Amino acid sequence: MRLDIVTIFPEYFAPLDVSLLGKARRRGDVDAHVHDLRGWAHDRHRTVDDTPYGGGPGMVMKPEPWGEALDAVVPPPSRARLIVPTPSGRPFTQELATEYAAEPWLVFACGRYEGIDARVIEDARERMPVDEVSIGDYVLAGGEVAVLVIVEAVSRLLPGVLGNADSVTDDSFAPGRMEALLEGPVYTKPATWRGRDVPDVLMSGNHGAIARWRRDQALRRTAARRPELIGRNTLDEADRKALTE
Ligand code: ADE
Repeated sequence: MRLDIVTIFPEYFAPLDVSLLGKARRRGDVDAHVHDLRGWAHDRHRTVDDTPYGGGPGMVMKPEPWGEALDAVVPPPSRARLIVPTPSGRPFTQELATEYAAEPWLVFACGRYEGIDARVIEDARERMPVDEVSIGDYVLAGGEVAVLVIVEAVSRLLPGVLGNADSVTDDSFAPGRMEALLEGPVYTKPATWRGRDVPDVLMSGNHGAIARWRRDQALRRTAARRPELIGRNTLDEADRKALTE
């Protein structure tokens, strides 16, 4: 997969060299390039922002550097999937991460300030698919951290990146997994730590009982923390019992 990221803060992307993604890059499974938007600004101060038409607080990113940057990074007539992180975008979900993981080429445009001049998105849409995407209902200072979140969620789905395909299908929100349940608590050795024991059932070797216990924990945690997800699951009698006990 090829990734291009356009930003005024290339140094935000040092984490792309770390951990599983760093390994995937060194293997050549992920070909990532970070570009400084100011390279496409032409005045002495390399200006990329200006005051908003119509007034109001803050600054808006100018269209000219963005237009040139996107033309250089994705030379017409080639097409990538362009992702523009913004708090006013559609929600980024595990399902969208799966869709992105199947793309050969993703390009990210990181906005700062009050956002990018809207004509940049309209213009790009004439020659490639563009998604404006939000990673959650809070406002970051810019799109850079959102891009790191999206790139990590996508790259761990690529074949060979995680090293354990089961960890992916087991994820709370894995598409195709019929359930939308939060994962319950997990434990490892030692069996007793600071006077706290691992639940007996996990040491029992009884795989049926372990599966039942894990499902009960997942159901109860989901009901407590994300009650709106419970209705997305098909519950049987035993499940309903776990939720009423
Ligand atoms: N930029 C600023 N806030 C954001 C958010 N919540 N998601 C995506 N991009 C953003």
